[in-house]
Amino acid sequence: MKIGALISGRGSNLPTLFEAMESPDYPAEVVVVISNRPDAPGLDVAAKAGIPTATVDHKAYDSREAFEADVQKVLVEHGVELVITPGFMRILTNTFVEQWPQRIVNIHPSLLPSFPGRHVHEQALAAGVKLSGCTVHFAVPEVDAGPIIGQAVVPVHDDDTPEVLAARVMQAEHKLLPHCLALVAEGRVHIEGNRTIVEAAPGVFEEINPAL
Ligand code: GRF
Repeated sequence: MKIGALISGRGSNLPTLFEAMESPDYPAEVVVVISNRPDAPGLDVAAKAGIPTATVDHKAYDSREAFEADVQKVLVEHGVELVITPGFMRILTNTFVEQWPQRIVNIHPSLLPSFPGRHVHEQALAAGVKLSGCTVHFAVPEVDAGPIIGQAVVPVHDDDTPEVLAARVMQAEHKLLPHCLALVAEGRVHIEGNRTIVEAAPGVFEEINPAL
């Protein structure tokens, strides 16, 4: 399955995804990385791995629709079948989301539906949760919502700062995203309303969440 990745910053989830893609059994490949910011360090990460990159600078457009039309053009040019948005900081319009029905996958650094939006780790610490984690889900027009494909859990420690918690969650993201994308690419994820039924090989999520 050909994946197009939309990013805005570091592209933190790309290296582990590229690593997974090196295995001949991995059923998906990133064919293009598109950033809305010309200075996104993730573009270099992709280029160094030999993955084609493109910049579609949102500041050069009058409207979200015009910006997204050019993003769409690049995705189509590369034969993309599934869009992922790891660290993409632009809200997608309903028109764009509807162009990719059940074909946009987002990763969010909390256990959704808790703590959508920004300042996620600050929200988690303020709420005093003892567990946090990350969620991979299909995108729908509402931000940080949509059928959940998989989640991974991490502990929250009493002395955590948002930065320390973010780093712990990020480790979990690096395992969860490649697993979830493989399940989608293998056709094992079936959407039923607002949830998914995942035909997982035994052990897939247990490996990520040792407490299960
Ligand atoms: C990740 O925590 C991801 O869950 C969120 O953005 C972060 C990655 O951003 N959506 P970046 O690649 O480090 O810029």
